[in-house]
Amino acid sequence: MMKSCPKLRNSYVVGVIFAVLLFGSLGVKVAECRVVRRLQDLEYPAINCRKHSAVLTDFGGVGDGKTSNTKAFQSAISNLSHYANDGGAMLVVPPGKWLTGSFNLTSHFTLFLQKDAVILGSQVESGWPSLPVLPSYGRGRDAPAGRFSSLIFGTHLTDVVITGHNGTIDGQGSYWWDKFHKGQFKLTRPYMIEIMYSSQIQISNLTLVNSPSWFVHPIYSSDIIIQGLTILAPVDSPNTDGIDPDSCSNTRIEDCYIVSGDDCIAVKSGWDEYGIKVGMPSQHIIIRRLTCISPDSAMIALGSEMSGGIQDIRAEDLTAINTQSAVRIKTAVGRGAYVKNIFVKGMNLFTMKYVFWMTGSYGSHPDTGFDPKALPTITGINYRDVIAKNVTYPAKLEGIANDPFTGICISNANIEKVGKKLAWNCTDVHGVTSNVSPEPCALLQEKPGKFDCPFPSDKLPIESVQLKTCSFKSLSLF
Ligand SMILES: *[C@@H]1O[C@H](CO)[C@@H](O)[C@H](O)[C@H]1NC(C)=O
Ligand SMILES: *[C@@H]1O[C@H](CO)[C@@H](O)[C@H](O)[C@H]1NC(C)=O
Ligand SMILES: *[C@@H]1O[C@H](CO)[C@@H](O)[C@H](O)[C@H]1NC(C)=O
Ligand SMILES: *[C@@H]1O[C@H](CO)[C@@H](O)[C@H](O)[C@H]1NC(C)=O
Ligand SMILES: *[C@@H]1O[C@H](CO)[C@@H](O)[C@H](O)[C@H]1NC(C)=O
Ligand SMILES: *[C@@H]1O[C@H](CO)[C@@H](O)[C@H](O)[C@H]1NC(C)=O
Repeated sequence: MMKSCPKLRNSYVVGVIFAVLLFGSLGVKVAECRVVRRLQDLEYPAINCRKHSAVLTDFGGVGDGKTSNTKAFQSAISNLSHYANDGGAMLVVPPGKWLTGSFNLTSHFTLFLQKDAVILGSQVESGWPSLPVLPSYGRGRDAPAGRFSSLIFGTHLTDVVITGHNGTIDGQGSYWWDKFHKGQFKLTRPYMIEIMYSSQIQISNLTLVNSPSWFVHPIYSSDIIIQGLTILAPVDSPNTDGIDPDSCSNTRIEDCYIVSGDDCIAVKSGWDEYGIKVGMPSQHIIIRRLTCISPDSAMIALGSEMSGGIQDIRAEDLTAINTQSAVRIKTAVGRGAYVKNIFVKGMNLFTMKYVFWMTGSYGSHPDTGFDPKALPTITGINYRDVIAKNVTYPAKLEGIANDPFTGICISNANIEKVGKKLAWNCTDVHGVTSNVSPEPCALLQEKPGKFDCPFPSDKLPIESVQLKTCSFKSLSLF
């Protein structure tokens, strides 16, 4: 049988190819519509190419922006999950507007959004099942009870790719922001993409807009590449963090452009007694070639949830414009654990409230059960090669009384003021500086002789992962 693809036969579709896909184990023949633009467009980089593919319309998808595609996504992915052990499978989302509630990913799977494909997050709450709270948080971030499942969710997966030719995922967040502002949720708002307990994850070459809350949340996961994302939310939208690696390791985040109402990137690892108990650090993470605009938040935040520990974070080639602070440490008494071995090199900053900001009194506890003796250890924090213009305060470095932040190093930093005197404000911190202007606070004395603060010369294993060039042509049954 051959189905036609009337919905897809529109002006920008140059060719439609029909193929017959044999569902091997079931022996069911399915007609597939393959929508392509030009053959030379049909390449994409990925950690793994796939042998099988299907198009959302094969499963009843309707791209009119009004029809719900939740069932189409769910049945497509459930169907394609049968190919996990036979070369994996890809689900293609063609040009159109594909309204959907939450759906789950599967292993050895690629979700591919063609150019002009837009996935629209449903604003009907029944399309968002509830999930239990995260063990390292002990409660939802917005509300103590459970939480809405993310728009695109996955757990216990290996080898999952979400990519495209810059297709869009639009969370239609305004519904969630308004209701959140009115305090009307009993559950925590959904994230756009959340992947838990998984490894070998790639999220790349997409535009993500207007998430209900955080955009990209890998948690309890490793071996992650996040690349070429454009992430856009109104700068006054609540908690629209761009990318939040949370208890994750061996992670590479590069070439992203983020405009957000909250931190562009926030590295996290759980909250107070719950994070301490789970004890999974975020570590071995590289962030490079990031551009951030976030007037009320940080370009990169470390914390405030850091109770599993944060270590070996490397960040380089960073640009922030009209952003509150650059690489900020946020912690509090009760968090426990550590933030250590942080290396930042090469920041270009324009219009910043604080260039260097560390906060030891962030507060914000999940409940009253936190241990007031659980003091965080903050040490080995290195910044070098910083140019900042139009700055209000060069530094506000506030450690914890009887628990100072130590081993702070700042070298080769030139900070230009906006008008008033540029005074550093430091309490309960220790460290050194070299070639820093204006003159740092007394707790971070210039050391004689110029030097650079350290930055590791080795590479993380994830930096050596080469993406393969995959093409649609090599898929089975083309
Ligand atoms: C896969 O999809 C085809 C076409 O919709 C259907 O006929 C088949 O039963 C599905 N198989 C599974 C295992 O869901
Ligand atoms: C998605 O996975 C979660 C966690 O395993 C599960 O609770 C939920 O029912 C799944 N959703 C669907 C639509 O299968
Ligand atoms: C992807 O689309 C966004 C939004 O239209 C655009 O700003 C961005 O430049 C595009 N990225 C690429 C690599 O074309
Ligand atoms: C994907 O994004 C990367 C990084 O921005 C870029 O180098 C690459 O050309 C993009 N690939 C495609 C197929 O758009
Ligand atoms: C400089 O920073 C101030 C805020 O401190 C801002 O109002 C002003 O627009 C910035 N100047 C430029 C040229 O962006
Ligand atoms: C320095 O910061 C502390 C809070 O950390 C504040 O109480 C104090 O007023 C600040 N001092 C100056 C001179 O701005």
